[in-house]
Amino acid sequence: MKYLTYRNGDKMPIVGLGTWKSEPGEVYDAVIEAVKMGYRHIDCAAIYQNEKEIGKAFKYLFDNNIVKREDLWVTSKLWNNSHRVDHVVPAIKQTLSDLQLDYLDLYLVHWPVALKDEVTFPEKGDDFVSLNEVPLAETWKGMEKTLAEGLAKHIGVSNFNSDKLQEVVDNANHNPEMNQVELHPLLPQNDLMDYCNGMGIHMTAYSPLGSRDRAAQMKKENEPNMFEIPALQDAANSLNISVPQLLIAWGVNRNTAVIPKSVNPDHMKSNLEAAEIDLSKEMMEKIESAGEKFRYVDGSFWTMEGSPYKMEDLWETV
Ligand SMILES: NC(=O)c1ccc[n+]([C@@H]2O[C@H](COP(=O)([O-])OP(=O)(O)OC[C@H]3O[C@@H](n4cnc5c(N)ncnc54)[C@H](OP(=O)(O)O)[C@@H]3O)[C@@H](O)[C@H]2O)c1
Repeated sequence: MKYLTYRNGDKMPIVGLGTWKSEPGEVYDAVIEAVKMGYRHIDCAAIYQNEKEIGKAFKYLFDNNIVKREDLWVTSKLWNNSHRVDHVVPAIKQTLSDLQLDYLDLYLVHWPVALKDEVTFPEKGDDFVSLNEVPLAETWKGMEKTLAEGLAKHIGVSNFNSDKLQEVVDNANHNPEMNQVELHPLLPQNDLMDYCNGMGIHMTAYSPLGSRDRAAQMKKENEPNMFEIPALQDAANSLNISVPQLLIAWGVNRNTAVIPKSVNPDHMKSNLEAAEIDLSKEMMEKIESAGEKFRYVDGSFWTMEGSPYKMEDLWETV
């Protein structure tokens, strides 16, 4: 397995298991199967509403000596309704209790978007809190407390563009070490990657396979299906691998972590094996030019009428 190395030498396995949309009733088995076949990195979030079940899987794995806590990398994320400085530590404590863990390896601010305390998903403009009211620098102070209290070993962000990252860095005692964003050949985000590389911030590629199991209301009409793009099929065939493996290997060969979600053991196995596939520079370029640029998880659910959040504030590209 390849790793990303953090500033203190800690190593995060480069391929992890995504758990968004992994339903209660299936995620327990998926996590146990994944660890048994060699996964050592699990990507979680409070908002996926399955952390309690994942916690039961972790307990089973530790109690039965299938993996040791220190050999497993667990990431989770702060939800948008807990951005106030005094809400961050209670939020991570809830996640730790659900996951049955004493610490997280990595804790991320899930989105640069704040919601009122009592709101889980916004339904109207009034459900939001603006970043003027709860600045990202305030939320970051709470994240730094999780480090100071030993609740997280590393802290970072998700869905941040370079302006927002810079705002955090300008006010930080401890810089973010990770930015988890959507990355795949249709959305390589090269400028953001250059910025993160320059700042020593690692990146994790989410929705690396195009997130096809998203709910219909989250999808746009005529979304491209990366599995069916002829140039990607040709490239995969030429290497005797599948398109999902090609997509994962592309992310790994850019030195980003990649966290494909699956609850299917055959998929999980072939996804993990893709971490070992080396791609030539020419192949990397061919893959990146395979299709028209597209963002699947576009954050438009944060920009409803009356919301203080606008699409142009979220992203720098597409
Ligand atoms: N930070 C954020 O805001 C954010 C946003 C989105 C995602 N994420 C994280 O990133 C993870 C991955 O992204 P995602 O869940 O959006 O989507 P994804 O990993 O791009 O795609 C998941 C879909 O691909 C299928 N799949 C997986 N492996 C396959 C294979 N080898 N062959 C064919 N189909 C395969 C899965 O079905 P099966 O289960 O049947 O295999 C599922 O339908 C999430 O689970 C979550 O942990 C984070």
